[in-house]
Amino acid sequence: MTRHHSASALTLADFEALDRDDPLRTLRDAFMLPDGVVYLDGNSLGALPRETPTRLHEVTARQWGEDLIRSWTAHDWIGAPQRVGDKIARLIGAGQGQVVVADSTSVNLFKLLAAACRLQPDRSVILSEPGNFPNDLYVAQGLQSLSDGRIELRLASADQIEAAIDERVAVVLLTHVHYKTAAVHDMARITARAHAQGALTLWDLSHSAGAVPVDLNAAQADFAVGCGYKYLNGGPGAPAYLFVAQRHQATAVSPITGWLGHARPFDFIDDYAPAPGVGRYLAGSHPILGITALEVGVDLMLQTDAQCRVDKSRALSELFVALVESRCAGQGLELASPREAQARGSHVAFRHAQAYAVMQGLIARGVIGDFRAPDLMRFGFAPLYNRHADIWHAVETLRDVLQTAAWDRPEFKQRHTVT
Ligand SMILES: Cc1ncc(COP(=O)(O)O)c(C=O)c1O
Repeated sequence: MTRHHSASALTLADFEALDRDDPLRTLRDAFMLPDGVVYLDGNSLGALPRETPTRLHEVTARQWGEDLIRSWTAHDWIGAPQRVGDKIARLIGAGQGQVVVADSTSVNLFKLLAAACRLQPDRSVILSEPGNFPNDLYVAQGLQSLSDGRIELRLASADQIEAAIDERVAVVLLTHVHYKTAAVHDMARITARAHAQGALTLWDLSHSAGAVPVDLNAAQADFAVGCGYKYLNGGPGAPAYLFVAQRHQATAVSPITGWLGHARPFDFIDDYAPAPGVGRYLAGSHPILGITALEVGVDLMLQTDAQCRVDKSRALSELFVALVESRCAGQGLELASPREAQARGSHVAFRHAQAYAVMQGLIARGVIGDFRAPDLMRFGFAPLYNRHADIWHAVETLRDVLQTAAWDRPEFKQRHTVT
């Protein structure tokens, strides 16, 4: 089915038929999703794999409980960041030894931005785009203020970014899939342009890994970071990951020179010496329970074919857009994402003057997406567990919430801290 079909003629049976033909259909059972919930927020917090509580129980009760500190060696807790990093590498076109699991995305971003800037002592600019995930700009601003004027954050809009890469730019910092609109940057082209100007690139893959094609090494990317709790299904606050291209591994250094990034942490010597490879970006002790949960999510993703994931993600989002535009026509919704599925990631945003209240109305009926200020509703499509029939139910609910103004209640306008 293409997006040119007449969406208004589709019935629930058509969506159910698509589910029967879905090569990923059996993966749904690998997740614990409550009955009656249509979960379209896997781009923010991925669903819980069934295996995760069992694994966590094993690691807490048996490994921690019985083997205690011996587990660092006996169960290779010490090697977990590299082991899971190598698995994530397979999802993002990185090689073995180029990815490590550590800290949060924000902290990893700080480490790699600082490392990239130190590789470029004659250049002062971190180039990003206005409206990038604010966190990434905040982290760059923090580094700028620490640098006593040596480093400056400069912003250029997405269509001007390539032209803005000049001889002062040390590193181009971009989120591959935009957190609001889902617009995708051309990683290979921007990286080539950056390299031609002597600049480096740092990609935030938080909304990409597991959902859209990413090939860091083919694109010659220099550095990357990403979240563990979105499409990778690592759980709330899951540890993040970082990538360093082979050619920078010996020269780039982390600004957080913690003991687990030391070449020989258990020599307990006074002077810091960085570990070889990506291990130097570890700082303090890593969260074993968090990495355990993340590994379950990553292992599940690795059971699936990348092309199948991308095809399904695009099919779901195309159907969603087509159905919303036909069944909710005249209800004040406007597509805020690129229209072509290839030009966007695995979520879609619609603008609406009452976006917050409408989303609360949807959530009250079991259709879970999220709101991004000032006026966007975001709907994420996780190819491992979302079904085509979910799209039907979500759009039918949206249509009803809008047509009956069910969103127009004081409790749905009450802003929560987390939106
Ligand atoms: C693009 C992007 N980068 C970074 C983050 C923050 O990651 P963390 O909470 O791991 O620091 C998010 C969280 O939503 C994000 O969407």
